[in-house]
Amino acid sequence: MSSIDKSGTFTLGNRTVKRLGYGAMQLAGPGVFGPPKDRDAALAVLREAVASGVDHIDTSDFYGPHITNQLIREALHPYPDNLVVVTKIGARRGDDGAWLQALSRSDLTQAVHDNLRNLKLDTLEVVNFRSMHGVRGPAEGSIEAPLTVLAELQQQGLIRHIGLSNVTPTQIAEGRRICEIVCVQNHYNLAHRNDDVLIDDLARADIAYVPYFPLGGFTPLQSSTLSGVAARLGATPMQVALAWLLQRAPNILLIPGTSSDAHLKENLAAAELNLSENDLAELNAIASEEHI
Ligand SMILES: NC(=O)c1ccc[n+]([C@@H]2O[C@H](COP(=O)([O-])OP(=O)(O)OC[C@H]3O[C@@H](n4cnc5c(N)ncnc54)[C@H](OP(=O)(O)O)[C@@H]3O)[C@@H](O)[C@H]2O)c1
Repeated sequence: MSSIDKSGTFTLGNRTVKRLGYGAMQLAGPGVFGPPKDRDAALAVLREAVASGVDHIDTSDFYGPHITNQLIREALHPYPDNLVVVTKIGARRGDDGAWLQALSRSDLTQAVHDNLRNLKLDTLEVVNFRSMHGVRGPAEGSIEAPLTVLAELQQQGLIRHIGLSNVTPTQIAEGRRICEIVCVQNHYNLAHRNDDVLIDDLARADIAYVPYFPLGGFTPLQSSTLSGVAARLGATPMQVALAWLLQRAPNILLIPGTSSDAHLKENLAAAELNLSENDLAELNAIASEEHI
């Protein structure tokens, strides 16, 4: 049994994936724009992830743009049968790297074809519709029009399953009236727990919840409580943050992002960590601490 097998599994669409996966966003250049400073190192991280047993990689064609998907294709194509590559659409990048909405029928159709071409796939296994009603967090507003286009692309066989990202419970309910929603990808971690109720609701509906910024994103988590628990367990703070998510709910699938081989290995080893009730109680208090 490889170490990440200990994370357990959950269903994503009609595939079963390990609960510890990998998020590829950090492989693009600074600001998720342009090429990585060390292309060979980026390719090596992807290959190491899959060699270590990762079977779920999260990406988007707007990372780079195009760069991250092209790296995935170069490093891993032809893909192992068990690998699920999940992408997302709904945004595009400005010439200056700005994150812009891309919601028209032609935007969405082009984004699906860009992902298919850059990943060298005939069908995208899971596509998340990333709501841009709010750029930095979910904001209310209908997602019916773009999701209807996505559902049509699914019926054409270009997409197997659909998920949602950066969405509210109202938008998830709206989405589920349009098509089957297999996963939700929102900002969530030890210190940012707006989706606590939502996660449990989705678990009851057998829908995967995939937290983005599981380690705090561009500002990695820092907390003396987290460091204290980690030191006591002989682990690193990031490993404890990931182990906490694994123990938080059975439908949570992890996609920690890193451009570093050492960090990748460290993150995947989090599957080995067991947190006691006492550890969990201490960690659960972090969300109300002010210094995070
Ligand atoms: N749907 C959305 O709107 C959305 C938004 C953001 C991200 N995402 C997805 O979610 C995935 C995860 O989010 P993320 O990568 O932004 O954030 P993250 O996983 O929370 O954290 C990544 C940051 O933590 C650092 N890091 C990783 N492992 C570490 C370790 N063991 N020790 C110390 N630092 C470590 C990384 O730097 P190094 O490279 O130096 O390791 C990077 O700066 C992304 O890859 C992307 O696929 C989705």
